Amino acid sequence: MTPPACSPLTPISAARPPAADARTWLVRPDILSRLDYAALFGNGHPVELELGAGDGSFLIRHAGATPGRNFLGVERLLGRLRKVDRKARTAGIANVRGIRIEAGYLLEWMIPPASLAAIHVYFPDPWPKRRHWPNRLVNAAFTRLAHAALMPGGIVHLRTDHPGYHEQMQKVFAAAAGFETCAPPEDLLAVKTDFERDFNAQGISTRVLAYRKTDPTGTPTGACVSGG
Ligand SMILES: C[S@@+](CC[C@H](N)C(=O)[O-])C[C@H]1O[C@@H](n2cnc3c(N)ncnc32)[C@H](O)[C@@H]1O
Repeated sequence: MTPPACSPLTPISAARPPAADARTWLVRPDILSRLDYAALFGNGHPVELELGAGDGSFLIRHAGATPGRNFLGVERLLGRLRKVDRKARTAGIANVRGIRIEAGYLLEWMIPPASLAAIHVYFPDPWPKRRHWPNRLVNAAFTRLAHAALMPGGIVHLRTDHPGYHEQMQKVFAAAAGFETCAPPEDLLAVKTDFERDFNAQGISTRVLAYRKTDPTGTPTGACVSGG
């Protein structure tokens, strides 16, 4: 699939605090500050991030089924994010926020260190041509940013349909310090994304990976149960 062209970010007012607009769940961030989750969500629940949330097919269902956690959907296309917002409000789901921004920038500059219970990356653009591989989101730099952003025991959940990208994901996490593989729970795997349903309907299977940030004080269990 050819990824859509990058569009410019919405103009930002640095004076505006990173709070959700009163009429929407879309966040207007101060891109020079780290996010204040308590201000965003109004509680201290653990926070999970979805990068490249698309239309929110995963985010809305997972958030609806997990009221004790907060979910932040990251998407660069405003039209898709507006759908996430509409779906969340229609379904009365209060633990979702959406933010229009480039995923790598958000991870590096706006996520407080060691703050996330989970990062979900489902069907990221595969950039199949070799010369475009540097554009792939999940690379060695991503493992370092994810490690810094996750709390100990926090988990990176990955899904792709693309064999080459699947291989790259495995390679970069195998080379990264501070992660161990784990098995995602069945109820999480049952929450399919829009792209996943389309691929599966065409007979293309989902390739699933999950990596937990090791907790020096904890005992690994093999199952993916994130911290927080
Ligand atoms: C192939 S779609 C998958 C959408 C969704 N995860 C799903 O499985 O249905 C990838 C999505 O990631 C978004 N995206 C790609 N690169 C991004 C980036 N660097 N930052 C934020 N969003 C990005 C695209 O706009 C697109 O909506």
